[in-house]
Amino acid sequence: MRHFIDLTAIPAEDLHGILANAIAMKAARSGLPKGTTDPDPVLAGKMLALIFEKSSTRTRISFDMAIRQLGGQSMVLSASDMQLGRGESIADTARVLSRYVDAVMIRANSHETVHEMARHANIPVINGLTDRSHPCQIMADLMTLQEHKGELSKLTLAWVGDGNNVASSFIHAAAKFGFTLQLACPAEFAPNTDETSDAINAGAAIKLTTSPLEAVTGADVVITDTFVSMGDKNPEHRLKILAPYQVNSELMARADKNAVFLHCLPAHRGEEVSAEVIDGEQSLVFDEAENRLHVQKAILAYCFGQ
Ligand code: CP
Ligand code: NVA
Repeated sequence: MRHFIDLTAIPAEDLHGILANAIAMKAARSGLPKGTTDPDPVLAGKMLALIFEKSSTRTRISFDMAIRQLGGQSMVLSASDMQLGRGESIADTARVLSRYVDAVMIRANSHETVHEMARHANIPVINGLTDRSHPCQIMADLMTLQEHKGELSKLTLAWVGDGNNVASSFIHAAAKFGFTLQLACPAEFAPNTDETSDAINAGAAIKLTTSPLEAVTGADVVITDTFVSMGDKNPEHRLKILAPYQVNSELMARADKNAVFLHCLPAHRGEEVSAEVIDGEQSLVFDEAENRLHVQKAILAYCFGQ
């Protein structure tokens, strides 16, 4: 029984194993109708609860399909419809869920909620995004890069824009996978300094700058995310400060000529990315979205010790 809360807590070897398993599981069911189970449905009979404190399209649907293809079933729950929404404790909710289901994925406003759930559950707990991190997303992104660009440790990734939850998970991943990560963020929206120093101390090759041009020069991968994440205050101010960080054709032209573009979605064309980049030939965003499904199957299997 293992939790999947942050990449920092998982050995690099296990993370590489999850990616390899995701790629193998994707190949093994190639051509099968989406609603059929995998040739090897390793989680037959397992029940997964998916709890959402915030909106979701990809995480919700890909986890739901993931457990079905693995032979199990899911229930999708909105926290506001549960007693959680009326103040029942996370601890009691975790103890009760542990009596009914085999694993829980939670998308929470506060990172501490996921840790509290894990402390009191005796089933695996998976982080489906918090204010601090989004580890399942980064695993899908790295799977996509491994498929399109090969060995991850040889790559230079440039993150441009808000130093948010998704950026934090890339920072965690840099220490585990050995790629170079160059982040360009305005000082006001710089990534978490403690997490960045911890990653650098753990051996990550991370460079911080406020210049998008500097970050993307020669990069193999250019990544951005929304300038206003769920729960962020003061959207007008954010959009103003972050406007110079838009990924557009001019910026992409400074990256390596074979560079690819990633975005976890949902995207806001004309804000963090221009339409010509996200809808252009360098963009891998829909392969990236598809890989959420495959990688989550491997994460679920890992949590069950498979
Ligand atoms: N990328 C991602 O997590 O998308 P959703 O918010 O739609 O789940
Ligand atoms: N940073 C975004 C990611 C959405 C998938 C948010 O937290 O809203």
